[in-house]
Amino acid sequence: MKTIGLVKEPEFETRVCLLPKEASLLIKQLSLEVLIEEGYAKHLGISDSAYVDAGVKMQSRAEVLSTADTLLTINEIEGFTPGEEQRVLIGIFNMLFYPERTEKYLGKNTTVYSLDLLPRTTLAQSMDVLSSMASIAGYRAVLKAAGYYENSFPMFTTAAGTLTPAKVLVLGAGVAGLQAIATARRLGAVVEAFDVRSSTKEEVRSLGAKFVEVEGAQEAKDAGGYAIAQSEEFLKKQKELIHDRARNANIVICTANIPGKKAPLLLAKATVDAMNPGSVIVDMAAEQGGNCEVTEAGKTITYNELTVVGDSHLAREVSQAASQLLSANYFNFLKYLVQSTKEEDLLLDKSRVIGNGVITNPLLTDKPERV
Ligand code: NAI
Repeated sequence: MKTIGLVKEPEFETRVCLLPKEASLLIKQLSLEVLIEEGYAKHLGISDSAYVDAGVKMQSRAEVLSTADTLLTINEIEGFTPGEEQRVLIGIFNMLFYPERTEKYLGKNTTVYSLDLLPRTTLAQSMDVLSSMASIAGYRAVLKAAGYYENSFPMFTTAAGTLTPAKVLVLGAGVAGLQAIATARRLGAVVEAFDVRSSTKEEVRSLGAKFVEVEGAQEAKDAGGYAIAQSEEFLKKQKELIHDRARNANIVICTANIPGKKAPLLLAKATVDAMNPGSVIVDMAAEQGGNCEVTEAGKTITYNELTVVGDSHLAREVSQAASQLLSANYFNFLKYLVQSTKEEDLLLDKSRVIGNGVITNPLLTDKPERV
């Protein structure tokens, strides 16, 4: 690995994965050459000269794609065709959920790392793009809901009377859910949360929210800290309890996911029908099928008199902060990759999807369930 290349992300993407600070560290600390397409981060107010000052060479897209041996990207690169030359591609490709994305690299000399597959361990924390983005998205989800909600979040005591605080229900208390709880609490809302992992109970309570418990959840020690699919009986019980809590809520933030699988359906249409007019649902699991039955992925709709936001990419709406965290995550991953001397390395083995044109990640060989 000698030359790192980055080209502009597709139009829909607002974030970048390398800022001048980390570009400079790649050059100075790791002795790598960095090539970047002209105008790469202009939309974030970062000029080409800021990259040049950091030691980067700014080039045309075609030059970067033909010269760099390692390409860093968030999304799949438009116009990149894997060929005979050895290439490394590092991105966030969500290939567990979109296994067809692996096809174009098969039989080529390309090695693909997908950072969403890094294990959620302490060692990988500084490279953990899922945590970085989930934190920002959870925060943004609450602000988004507050924007649509035409009532107050905190309790207001005025001479004209008292306004009651908003009631927020958070489904799934992982990284995004906990950040949503913290943000809603900071805005003065009364918050309740559900999760199937018992370890979240204390975390939810420590943020000043109420943990709503459904008995009988299944957990698996070998699931890497992730949730597993639940029994029909549990889901039925959970749906009933959620129905009851959602009817009283003004805002519901949906974050429940199971890696590589369809998201659990937690908020049935009948529940949404029973919710208060003016309420807001933000479904961050929309791309994985959604936690809410009326969600439309990638859209904000009005359903009855409710607003339903279906968006799994809310970090794109906080593009500066998201890019700052991504840039640090990518730098830490590259540093680890360059300095790794082990033949078998858990972090690299788990995040490598394809090694020289062959699928190496066992999670991808057993084709996962799709929506
Ligand atoms: P995720 O995005 O896969 O899922 C979000 C949440 O939805 C999870 O808390 C999950 O338990 C919950 N969920 C799934 N099915 C549900 C259902 N039927 N009802 C209610 N909730 C449901 O999870 P995320 O946020 O990516 O975190 C996954 C794990 O990784 C967690 O255990 C987290 O603590 C761990 N983690 C560990 C880190 C470390 O350094 N040790 C760093 C970051 C995360």
